[in-house]
Amino acid sequence: MQSSNIVQPQQKNTIMQLLEKYKLDGRNNKMSLTAGIYMDETGESPILDTVKVAERFLVENQTCKAAFNMTGDVDFHRAVKKVVFPYFTEVEKKEICVIQTLGASGAINLIGQLVNQYAPLSRIWVSNPTWENHEPLLGHHLGGICHYKYVAENNKASVSKIMEDLQYSKPGDYVLFHASCHNPTGIDPDLYQWTELAKFCKDMRLIPIFDFAYQGFAYDLEKDTEVFGIFKQNVDDFIVCNSFSKNMGLYDERVGALSFIFTDQEKTNSWLQTTKRLIRSSYSIPPIHGGAVASHIINNDLLFKQWGEEVSGMRKDLERRRSDFFSALDCVGMKEDILDFDKQNGMFVCLKLTEEEIGTLREKYGIYMLDSGRISIASLNSKKIPMLCEAIKKLRV
Ligand code: LMR
Repeated sequence: MQSSNIVQPQQKNTIMQLLEKYKLDGRNNKMSLTAGIYMDETGESPILDTVKVAERFLVENQTCKAAFNMTGDVDFHRAVKKVVFPYFTEVEKKEICVIQTLGASGAINLIGQLVNQYAPLSRIWVSNPTWENHEPLLGHHLGGICHYKYVAENNKASVSKIMEDLQYSKPGDYVLFHASCHNPTGIDPDLYQWTELAKFCKDMRLIPIFDFAYQGFAYDLEKDTEVFGIFKQNVDDFIVCNSFSKNMGLYDERVGALSFIFTDQEKTNSWLQTTKRLIRSSYSIPPIHGGAVASHIINNDLLFKQWGEEVSGMRKDLERRRSDFFSALDCVGMKEDILDFDKQNGMFVCLKLTEEEIGTLREKYGIYMLDSGRISIASLNSKKIPMLCEAIKKLRV
């Protein structure tokens, strides 16, 4: 059976298992296209210049590492409001509650526990396909996970297909959206479509949750947040889980945030207190270093500007790689065969290959991709593109 970028089959290998298998593979010309980690042409995940500046600043100026704050530092909260909610007024920003978390994954995991506590009978709707770790992270919620179809039609996200499934939701259900660079498809709704979805959520009384792991990789840091301005105008409550793993290259520092955008401040406070209890009973306090790096960069105007340029550099590089890869596929006559959609945002491209073909690429050529056919072009440098295209071609001759 052919896999496609539409339906996510049960994965035989997780991303982590594939990374481990890749490490153990002794071949010199092996290629790992599994994880969404930005690698430069040398195959390294670079440390951004702004991060180095911030880290040097911290070495020289940080006076204490015992703030002992379960929700992170106020400077970090200020930074998140500045970068994730630039379209909010100062008054609206004040009403947002930001909590530092262990990446966006940590925020999503807390959401599973919070929804289970506050709305045990509500379902959480996730896209099909979605990131393989969404459902495990939400696993604390016992009210059930449902799926809505996520596909492209006419080279755009199909909002009608999303709504077709969400019409079976009940008021008070939660729906997880990817704010930009949908993982794995790379298909994003445009602003008109986000407005349609926001109005739909309002009418159906659904509470949107946004996973925002790829800020800056679709258009730019600011434009990628426009969706939140739209939802602010349309719904009473929504939640954002954002990450600085990709856009600051702070993967291993685990730095992200959970933001509650609720109109009722009593509700905000109640969710905050519960979140603090959940944090205290699991990891107690978040690691402060990554948060301090992120806030130093964002709260300093010069560094903020420089960081924006660094993110643009990575985004443009991904665009170039994607376009080089598609041209190379075209040259070997395979583009039409293995691609349904070619307007992806972000790090991923889904290839229409069978599981058997994906297994052959792994065993015979040392080319590692997810069983669903998702590849990360963030690890696909110029030298590897011809090798990959030739190997794909050989599968079908
Ligand atoms: C991915 O989808 O590859 C990334 O989000 C990395 C991860 O943690 O899975």
